Amino acid sequence: MMTKQELTYRQLLTLRDGARVLLRLLKPDDRQSLIDLYAPISPEDQRYLRDDVSDPETVARWVDDLDYARVLPLVALVGERIVGNATLHLHRGPARHRGEVRIFLAKDFRRRGLGTRMLQTLIELARRRSLYMLEAQIVSDQSHVIRAFKNLGFELKCTFDDYFMLPDGDLRDVAHLILRLRAAEEEF
Ligand SMILES: CC(C)(COP(=O)(O)OP(=O)(O)OC[C@H]1O[C@@H](n2cnc3c(N)ncnc32)[C@H](O)[C@@H]1OP(=O)(O)O)[C@@H](O)C(=O)NCCC(=O)NCCS
Repeated sequence: MMTKQELTYRQLLTLRDGARVLLRLLKPDDRQSLIDLYAPISPEDQRYLRDDVSDPETVARWVDDLDYARVLPLVALVGERIVGNATLHLHRGPARHRGEVRIFLAKDFRRRGLGTRMLQTLIELARRRSLYMLEAQIVSDQSHVIRAFKNLGFELKCTFDDYFMLPDGDLRDVAHLILRLRAAEEEF
């Protein structure tokens, strides 16, 4: 269940270089801005993503099918422009204590500390939901992305060999990272 606190969540950040960025949940009105975030994606970035985000229909569906009980999407805005999208994917039944995180930033907003701040916010939202752990799956080639997650406390739990097929059919290993938010014994 969404709390009012989550629905109205807003955080104004000042990045290391002085840029001002607003973090809040994605809303139905953000349809075009989210399409615009992904449209200029480079072929290199696209190779490592699960969805074909250069297709506006794919991105539009995320907004049209907004369901905060399934996916909590946090966006970063500079004025009207969305410069980042970080999502917390929630599960049901035996996986209801876990969340999966994914993140994508506009190229000109990388290496400025924004990814770290957005992931910290998702971690905080996950804690408020009393989740036990967060997971991330990252293609092993992407050592800088893995480093960014490890800096936040994520640990490499295992690597799946040949788990990700690139558009050209090449196979890559996938790193499975976990961040524990609470221990099982905290229940008692
Ligand atoms: C991965 C991503 C979210 C990182 O966000 P970011 O804002 O660029 O990262 P930060 O500036 O917060 O940097 C955090 C740390 O990550 C590491 N890092 C991030 N990008 C790096 C790069 N290109 N080269 C080397 N290290 C890098 C560094 O250790 C960095 O810390 P430092 O700046 O103090 O050295 C961003 O690059 C991105 O959106 N990439 C494309 C999509 C993607 O790969 N998503 C991950 C799939 S879940």
